Amino acid sequence: MRISVIGCGYLGAVHAAAMAKLGHDVIGIDVDERKIDDLQASKAPFFEPGLTELLSEVQGSGSLSFSTNIADAADADVHFLCVGTPQRKGENAADLRYVDAGFRAIAEQIKPGALIAGKSTVPVGTAARLAAELSVLQPGAMLAWNPEFLREGHAVQDTLSPDRLIYGIPDGPQGQRALELLDDVYRQILDADTPRLTMGYETAELVKTSANSFLATKISFINAMAEICEATGADVKVLADSIGLDDRIGRKFLNAGVGFGGGCLPKDIRAFMARAGELGADQALTFLREVDAINMRRRERVVELIREELGGSLLGKRITVLGAAFKPNSDDVRDSPALSVGAQLQLLGAIVTMTDPEALANARMRFPELQYEQNLEEAIGGAEALVLLTEWKQFTEADPVAWAQLVSVPLIVDGRNALDIDKWREAGWHVKAMGRP
Ligand code: UGA
Repeated sequence: MRISVIGCGYLGAVHAAAMAKLGHDVIGIDVDERKIDDLQASKAPFFEPGLTELLSEVQGSGSLSFSTNIADAADADVHFLCVGTPQRKGENAADLRYVDAGFRAIAEQIKPGALIAGKSTVPVGTAARLAAELSVLQPGAMLAWNPEFLREGHAVQDTLSPDRLIYGIPDGPQGQRALELLDDVYRQILDADTPRLTMGYETAELVKTSANSFLATKISFINAMAEICEATGADVKVLADSIGLDDRIGRKFLNAGVGFGGGCLPKDIRAFMARAGELGADQALTFLREVDAINMRRRERVVELIREELGGSLLGKRITVLGAAFKPNSDDVRDSPALSVGAQLQLLGAIVTMTDPEALANARMRFPELQYEQNLEEAIGGAEALVLLTEWKQFTEADPVAWAQLVSVPLIVDGRNALDIDKWREAGWHVKAMGRP
């Protein structure tokens, strides 16, 4: 099939490459020329394991191209809308300007019988509004909402082998035709027995926002338990292992620490609350305010913990923050807890060095005033405290005996509960972990 992907960021670039891998003829469109130049040269414009290899593979076979000109997408059968929906400045609601712009640009080009499939995370009600616009702009074209659940760091695998496919489609013959087109796109994935659920637009939009809200709630739940553990001397990791064995609860997303960040969970729960307010259903989601508050408290808590461990003052203390990305295997620093804690420590007078295997360039753009060091040995040399905030394996699998020779004080605060504490203590380190005695 001929497929276009509008927006080539973390979602769209991977989606475009994955659709080509499924055997389609794909064109990726983005307004950012540098990004398109990179992609055309099979260079991933961000760090995502496996993406560069996939881009080279599919571009070698001629099934994937990129352009900044939306007219080049006009003859596609299916157009995937993959643009960002960031938080609106100074508000909680989602900023839909890229969705609207991308949608209108393609709606002007689309041929009759073709489909626009929205993948961006949007407030419930957006698809119905866009479908109404499309029925005026190009009555012969169709709209579906087909949310994406990929995780950064696992994006290629998640796109090619998703847990489920969600189709938000209208009733009637147009919906039927949209379903057939999406089934043709995802034939290989469906043949692997991937569950596929069809529903109305609103439910499809809500599947995405409620899934992210549930994940955020799960993380904040265990972080709330970490607060209780800190107040009682209990151990949140043992607690999570124990309750996680109940398969109704499950162990995944019960890792307590500095909390969630990134370009999705924080802004998605806020946009969801804002949308519920507009719908007069704000009471239903007031608990998400608490989820957000628990999460943000963890950042303050880790700063407090470091201050306590350093004898009550951060002034002039040399602290190395291990990690800048919002999670490992990503160079994404959007709402990164690591970066926000690093900046906070600096504001409180510490001399902060940030190190991260992939995210330093992005971090530097966001907080140019912080000090960055790529070389790990240089970064930790002479430190009076290390703080682990992104659990890259370069940090969690480090040799504590060797590291003890490099730092000036063998003190480490584990903000992700990712270290083998016994091993570090045996090597002479003072280890402080969040929610653990
Ligand atoms: C999240 C969802 O997991 C994806 O399903 C969704 O498609 C995506 O948002 C999106 O909306 O596009 P992602 O933002 O890549 O994916 O990252 P997650 O793996 O969900 O992690 C989010 C944050 O939670 C990270 O900062 C991570 O360190 C933190 N986290 C995760 C915890 O603090 N504890 C855990 O147990 C798990």
